[in-house]
Amino acid sequence: MKKILSVTQFLLNGLRKHENIRCLHTGYISHQKQFVLTKDRYPHIKRGNYTELNDNHVKFFKDLLGSDRVLTDPNDVQPYNTDWIKMVCGTLVCEAGCVLETLDQELEKHNLMMPLDLGAKGSCQIGGNISTNAGGLRFLRYGSLQGNVLGVEVVLANGEVLDCLNVLKKDNTGFHLRHLFIGSEGTLGIVTKAALQCPPRPKSIILAFLGVEDFESVLSTLKLAKEQLSETLSSCELIDAPSLDAVNKYLGIKSPIDEFPFYVLIETSGSDVNHDEEKLNVFLDKAMTRGIVIDGIVTNEPSKMQNIWQLRERIAEALLHTGAVYKYDVSLPVQHFYEIVPLLQNELKDTSATVVTGYGHIGDGNLHVNIAAEEYDQDLVNNVIEPFVFKWVSEKKGSISAEHGIGLKKTEFLHYSKTPEAISLMKKLKNLFDPSGILNPYKVLPLH
Ligand code: LAC
Ligand code: ZN
Repeated sequence: MKKILSVTQFLLNGLRKHENIRCLHTGYISHQKQFVLTKDRYPHIKRGNYTELNDNHVKFFKDLLGSDRVLTDPNDVQPYNTDWIKMVCGTLVCEAGCVLETLDQELEKHNLMMPLDLGAKGSCQIGGNISTNAGGLRFLRYGSLQGNVLGVEVVLANGEVLDCLNVLKKDNTGFHLRHLFIGSEGTLGIVTKAALQCPPRPKSIILAFLGVEDFESVLSTLKLAKEQLSETLSSCELIDAPSLDAVNKYLGIKSPIDEFPFYVLIETSGSDVNHDEEKLNVFLDKAMTRGIVIDGIVTNEPSKMQNIWQLRERIAEALLHTGAVYKYDVSLPVQHFYEIVPLLQNELKDTSATVVTGYGHIGDGNLHVNIAAEEYDQDLVNNVIEPFVFKWVSEKKGSISAEHGIGLKKTEFLHYSKTPEAISLMKKLKNLFDPSGILNPYKVLPLH
């Protein structure tokens, strides 16, 4: 009896003939994209009694349908060989102890990336990132972990393993339990595995490091960047002069431009370098013509970009060299973003504080205020800095913790950002999940 071809096999064999396809044990990888063949995805399904595709079959279909109706080019047949729900395309499932940078390097092999990036990527682990709902440098583009974590596996206080390791993008089946564990700092359960959606790795990345004269111009730069760069904007970070001085003084990293009161770091990423460059050029042209940006450099050279990123990523590390640092991480409406820095400089001028700096994720309204001093002074913290910072932020309708969480230090200040009813409900949830209080005790919730 003559064997028939299955339709999928016909398409696959057409693909196999193409020389830029390499066969791996996990499936096929083109120079652009990975996808897993159905035969590999479902190994329990044994191949039926079908014949092998040969040139005669291709000819037969071409004669029957016309050659323009038979697809053999790998790019054309690829979509038909990829499972529509893309179970291996763009979704990562990993254990909680994986280091963020290692995951990103692994994803690079598949032209994907982690939707999260932060200065501590070389040592921080994804379980910790999820438990603290870490924000980072590309939040502006990819959003929060609450959006990107599709599922988690969690060990509960009673030892039960809660499997919420969903890998679907949409799942509206009642309470979204994973969100209770993202950002609750290990107080409700311990994250042991996670599934994340991972965006395609950009093919083009360009960085601009811009010098700006005043904070009003920083805001105008942000507004213009959002308007002009739109979907290509992947990061917008602020560095003030004292922050840059610290990186230069303590870590020896030099700024590529002259001194300015403020520096704005803008990153674009996309799939087409010409398109992205064109957009960036229009943005820069407008920004400089309007006098918003005075000077700057633009580069897509990896080593130069890395150097510029260090000026931003290593501020926290540099400031530690000053002696003692009091650190605050607040969310503010952008119009009030930097006001607190000069106010604090004034408030602290006759104290042991030596430098007050402000830097951070201006694109997300997230300011890091760091106060450096030669020695740690608890009285200064208790009586001057904290009452001032938290009250001011609360009055401006900001959050006392934008991305670093509450931990031990801010439990008594939680009321500045949460209502009594919300705190009461949080306490009830804690009691339900962890009645003996064994999970990360003393954290997040006020004792009374
Ligand atoms: C940063 C850390 C401190 O943005 O969150 O550098
Ligand atoms: Zn930050």
